[in-house]
Amino acid sequence: MTLAAMTSAELELRHYAVLGLVSEASRMALDYFNRSDSLGITMKGAQDWLTVADGAVEDFLRQRLAVLFPSDAIIGEEGGGEASDAVWIIDPIDGTSNFARGDRNWCISIGFLVNRVPEIGIIAAPAMEEVYCARRGQGATMNGRPIKVSGATDITRAYVELGWSTRVPAANYLAVIERGYTAGASMKRSGSGALGICHVAIGRSEAYAELHINAWDVAAGLVIAREAGAAVNDFFAGEGIAKGNPVLCCTPGLAKDLATITGIVSQRDMR
Ligand code: IPD
Repeated sequence: MTLAAMTSAELELRHYAVLGLVSEASRMALDYFNRSDSLGITMKGAQDWLTVADGAVEDFLRQRLAVLFPSDAIIGEEGGGEASDAVWIIDPIDGTSNFARGDRNWCISIGFLVNRVPEIGIIAAPAMEEVYCARRGQGATMNGRPIKVSGATDITRAYVELGWSTRVPAANYLAVIERGYTAGASMKRSGSGALGICHVAIGRSEAYAELHINAWDVAAGLVIAREAGAAVNDFFAGEGIAKGNPVLCCTPGLAKDLATITGIVSQRDMR
C-alpha cells in the first residue's frame, strides 16, 4: 500500500484501533510491573535488560495488529521484522532497565509509518497514567489535552536529555556531555528514549538527543514531538528503520545550539 492509497479514514481507523490495543497492553504491562516476582529478568548484553513482559506485550500487539491490518508490516524490538510501505514499529517496553527495577519511567511505544513518513504515534506510560498521541498534521495530546514544546531559546535555562547505550563509544557520549555543560545546559538521562522525546513535546525538557538509537525507540515519539512544535532530525533517512540513526528533537529556538553540542542537525518542518 502506498501513501496515495492510504486515505485519512484508513489512518484514523488505525489510530483509534491502536489506542484500544495500547490500553489493553498497558494493563498487561502494569500487571507484570506490580508483581516484581513475575518479571523473569535476563540480560541481552551489558546494560541491556529484558523481562518476560517485553515479549508478552509485543506478542499481544503483533497478534492483534496482524488480524486487524493484515497487509501492514510489523517491526518490534524483540521479534524484529522487515519494513514495507506501511509499517508499525513497536517497542513493547521502552525503559526496560527502569521497569525491571520498579522505576515508573517506562512506556509502550507504537509508531506507524507510510512510505517512511511517521503518520501515527502513541506512547503510553501506564505507571504514570499518561498517554501521548499524535497524527501527522493534527497536533499532539497528552491524556486528550493539546501539548506543545517549551519554546525556550536560552541554552543556559535548558534541560537537555542525552540518551546512552553501549552501542556508541563512551568517549563520544562524554564529549557531548562536556560540550553541553560548557554551553550552559543542564544535562540529564532518565532511561527511556521514547518518554524523553515526549517530555520535550510537553515542555518538561528542551531537548532529547542520542548518538545512536533504534527506530522502535523513536518512531512514535518523533510524530508526537513534531506535532507539538519540536524541531527534529531526519531520523528515517538512509537505513534509519532497519539500523537506527542519531536522533535530536528540541524546541526550535535551541536547534542551532544543539547542533553544535550534539553534531546532529534538526529542522522544524522536515516532512
Ligand atoms: C533503551 C532506552 C534508552 C536509550 C537506549 C534504548 P529499551 O531502550 O530507550 O533510554 O538510551 O538507546 O536502547 O532497551 O529500554 O527498550
